[in-house]
Amino acid sequence: MGSTISCINVTKSFHGDGIKINALHNVDVEFQEGEFVSIVGPSGSGKSTLLSLLGTLDQPSTGEVRFDGQTSKLKKKGALADFRFENIGFVFQQFHLLPTLTSLENVMSPLLTRKVSYNKRERATEVLKQVGLEDKLHSLPSQLSGGQQQRVAIARAMVNQPKWLLADEPTGNLDTETGEIIFEVLTKLNRKNGCGLLYVTHDPNLAARADRMIEMKDGGIIHDSSRGDMV
Ligand SMILES: Nc1ncnc2c1ncn2[C@@H]1O[C@H](COP(=O)(O)OP(=O)(O)OP(=O)(O)O)[C@@H](O)[C@H]1O
Ligand SMILES: [Mg+2]
Repeated sequence: MGSTISCINVTKSFHGDGIKINALHNVDVEFQEGEFVSIVGPSGSGKSTLLSLLGTLDQPSTGEVRFDGQTSKLKKKGALADFRFENIGFVFQQFHLLPTLTSLENVMSPLLTRKVSYNKRERATEVLKQVGLEDKLHSLPSQLSGGQQQRVAIARAMVNQPKWLLADEPTGNLDTETGEIIFEVLTKLNRKNGCGLLYVTHDPNLAARADRMIEMKDGGIIHDSSRGDMV
C-alpha cells in the first residue's frame, strides 16, 4: 500500500493581541502518495496553514496529522527534522536560495549534515538536469532568472527523493509563461518520480489541471473534487 497523509479533525488557532484566530477548523482530509492535488481558496482561507501542518513545520492545536496512520505528534523535534528530510520537499513563492552559493551548492545544502547512500554531488547534478538546468550548475542565484531560481529551489526540494512535494504558490512571483514552465516541471516530477504533489495556487486554470482539487474557505474545506460534491 502507498503512503498517505491524513488530517483527523484538525484545528489550528493563533493567538495574538488578545485575539484568537481560527486559521483551520475541523479539517478531515486524506492524500495518497502519487496524487496531484491543487488547493485553492481566497487569501486567509488557511491554505498555507494547512500545508505547514501537512509538512510537519507546525502542529495542529487539536486533532491529528497522520503519516501512514501514525501521528506526527509523538515525534521529537530532531526526529521530525529527520522525518521531513526523508519524506517531504517544500517549494515556496519566495525561492529562499542562499545568495552566495551556486545552483549545485544550493541543491546540495540539505545533504550537508546528512549521511546518505548516494554521491551527493552526482545526485544534485542529476536533479538539476531533471529541471533543465544542466548548463547553470555553477551560476549564482543573482545570475539566474526568477524561473531558473525556482527550478533550483525545486531541485533542492527533490534532492533526497521525498514522497511528498508541497508547493505553496510556487508560480506566485512569476509571469504566466514562466509559471507554466514551473508547473510543467512539477507535474513531470509528480508523474515520473511518483511523489505526491500538493499544490496551493490562486490560478484557477492551473488548479483545474490537477487530478483532484480542494477548495478552502474560512479555515475549512468547502469542496473536494474526489468526493464529488460539497463537503
Ligand atoms: N503565525 C500566525 N499568527 C497569527 N495568525 C496567523 C498566522 N499564520 C496564519 N495566520 C492567520 O490564519 C489565517 C489563515 O492564514 P493562511 O496563511 O493559512 O492563509 P492562506 O489561505 O495561505 O492565504 P494567502 O492566499 O493570502 O496566502 C489568516 O487569518 C492569517 O492571518
Ligand atoms: Mg498562503
